[in-house]
Amino acid sequence: MKVAIIGSGTMGSGIAQVAATAGCEVKVFDTNHEALNRSKANLENVLSKLVEKEKITNDEKLRIIGNISFASSLSELSHSDLVIEAIIENLEVKRKLFSDLENYVSPETILATNTSSLSITSIAASCQKPERVIGIHFFNPAPLMQLVEIIPAIQTSKEILHKSVETISSWKKTVAVVKDTPGFIVNRVARPFYSEALRIFDEGFADMQTIDFAMKEIGGFKMGPFELMDFIGHDVNYVVTESVFTAFYFDPKYKPSLTQKRLVEAGYLGKKSGRGFYDYTVIARNEAISSNFNKAILNQIFERVIVMLINEAADTLFLNIASAKDIDNAMTKGVNYPKGLLAWADELGINWCVEKMDELYNEYHEDRYRCSPILRRMSRENKSFF
Ligand SMILES: NC(=O)c1ccc[n+]([C@@H]2O[C@H](COP(=O)([O-])OP(=O)(O)OC[C@H]3O[C@@H](n4cnc5c(N)ncnc54)[C@H](O)[C@@H]3O)[C@@H](O)[C@H]2O)c1
Repeated sequence: MKVAIIGSGTMGSGIAQVAATAGCEVKVFDTNHEALNRSKANLENVLSKLVEKEKITNDEKLRIIGNISFASSLSELSHSDLVIEAIIENLEVKRKLFSDLENYVSPETILATNTSSLSITSIAASCQKPERVIGIHFFNPAPLMQLVEIIPAIQTSKEILHKSVETISSWKKTVAVVKDTPGFIVNRVARPFYSEALRIFDEGFADMQTIDFAMKEIGGFKMGPFELMDFIGHDVNYVVTESVFTAFYFDPKYKPSLTQKRLVEAGYLGKKSGRGFYDYTVIARNEAISSNFNKAILNQIFERVIVMLINEAADTLFLNIASAKDIDNAMTKGVNYPKGLLAWADELGINWCVEKMDELYNEYHEDRYRCSPILRRMSRENKSFF
């Protein structure tokens, strides 16, 4: 299969590596020559490290590199079966690229975008043949992250969806098919991990070390919400929350936190700037000491965050955004959650989830804490997700 990648930054380079490893003939194009050179050098580096660690042989490295070539114009991509765009996150720039692309490629070529937040439908509408446009959303780093969300636009044909799922699965990725809605699965369902933790913090119920400890110790998450936000960077994490909130017509479930906004304004962007919620300039970071924690408080924190996550996953299913299996796969394989949220709901009990959500709603009387109708219905009918 001939694959073209447009944009040779973080994502484009990673996706090129994945496709070339799977045996595709890959052409990478970028308007910036330096970016292309950087991508070439990075690929060489990454593959050499894999050889050093004995993850691949030297022959395998040469085979992968041999599968990738670099193009200096769009016309060189004309023989592609699949084009994956990974340029800057700007709707007008992407729409212009997609409409230009149609002048070069064959009518059968699949045109995919790796956008994290833009409407696939709107990108497809810039094309003469919108039915061949689809979202193929990899996670960073693409060679390591197992999940790929596939998002048909409302114009996308069934055949293009089928071919895309088949192709990406053959690249040894786990595919989750998602309706074209803000945040797709992962960036939508994960919001409460950050926002509910921030809410607990803002209310002064617990400090960040305690909240992080609760989610790791009781929940089994690899990182606590504050550590993870610092790791992702507040500029990125805050903007995703804000864009999901805006795109959902200001649904209070997704309301961003002023505390996080202030960090962005201060330039305390997290680990990369030396300071976020935590201070990374001191050697011994204010680590949590388990004996200082009150077990009942830890439990309350965990239960509040987990039930909000479950409620969002349940609502995503309720609104037919994706299947239960794909929602659970997305969270375990896209963001390494220790368990799928719907399977977790079954384990904790659907009745328990409804009671917990109602408890929060009764306390706050905020729409943010409304229980998903699917949970209420399942509780009444004594059903489970799996
Ligand atoms: N970085 C992530 O964690 C991540 C994860 C998933 C999806 N995404 C999405 O992937 C896309 C790319 O993100 P990234 O982080 O790789 O960006 P990046 O800034 O690392 O790379 C973008 C590249 O696109 C090139 N470019 C810009 N305009 C172009 C054009 N018109 N034609 C050809 N090349 C052009 C730039 O020169 C640059 O090399 C975005 O849509 C982003 O939302 C990013």
